Amino acid sequence: MNIFTFKTEEDFVQTGANLIASLVQSKPNAVLGLATGSSPIGIYTRLAEMNKKGLVSFSQVSAYNLDEYVGISEDHSQSYKTFMKENLFNHIDINLQNTHIPNANAEDLEVECKAYDLALEQNGPVDLQILGIGSNGHIGFNEPDDHLYGGTHVLDLLEETLEANARFFDSLDEVPKQAITMGVGGIMKARQIILLARGAGKAEAVKAALQGPITTQCPASLLQCHPNVIVLLDEKAGSLL
Ligand code: F6R
Repeated sequence: MNIFTFKTEEDFVQTGANLIASLVQSKPNAVLGLATGSSPIGIYTRLAEMNKKGLVSFSQVSAYNLDEYVGISEDHSQSYKTFMKENLFNHIDINLQNTHIPNANAEDLEVECKAYDLALEQNGPVDLQILGIGSNGHIGFNEPDDHLYGGTHVLDLLEETLEANARFFDSLDEVPKQAITMGVGGIMKARQIILLARGAGKAEAVKAALQGPITTQCPASLLQCHPNVIVLLDEKAGSLL
């Protein structure tokens, strides 16, 4: 793993954006694996700026998102579909038809999960997967457990994840209790992974993920088995390493 710790947000953001932009410059039809959440927002904003300046084009890129809440409509203000449009897709020249987010409103979620994996298999592998990390070590919404799933699946979010995500909703009660997520098998198939973490609240998870034992109780620790992971941290997230 290549671990970089940045003193300034500007360096964190620009490095993340440069890594993604240089892949797309060298492979215009790259397949990106995208995350939502606060960690990648600055990087997405910077990519949009680079796109506007003509430094990088996403016109041939396809994108697969990690996850989506179950139980809210896709045009809900906090759906991950809305998040991606507001924070990236509406501001770059990507063809929306080439963007993919699990459809949590599908009639049969099991069929939807299988279809998502099939699409990833046919159009993948993902060239570059962006990941955040939960303070409990989750990646995507693969929560700590005594077993994990390889493929895309529906799961119950843990209390700590509901609490962490309550900041985006009016109350804890409104946070969806379930999500669809790509499984760890799907994530690990990416050619390259960039793991992002900022803030003291992530320091323990980052230490467990990068230096602890490989265990399903810290799903991000599985990344130690991946041959091509870049970790971008701010000083607080990296403070226990
Ligand atoms: C989001 C996702 C989650 C987040 C994680 C960190 O698509 O899959 O794993 O990356 O919960 O969230 P933030 O970045 O908001 O701290």
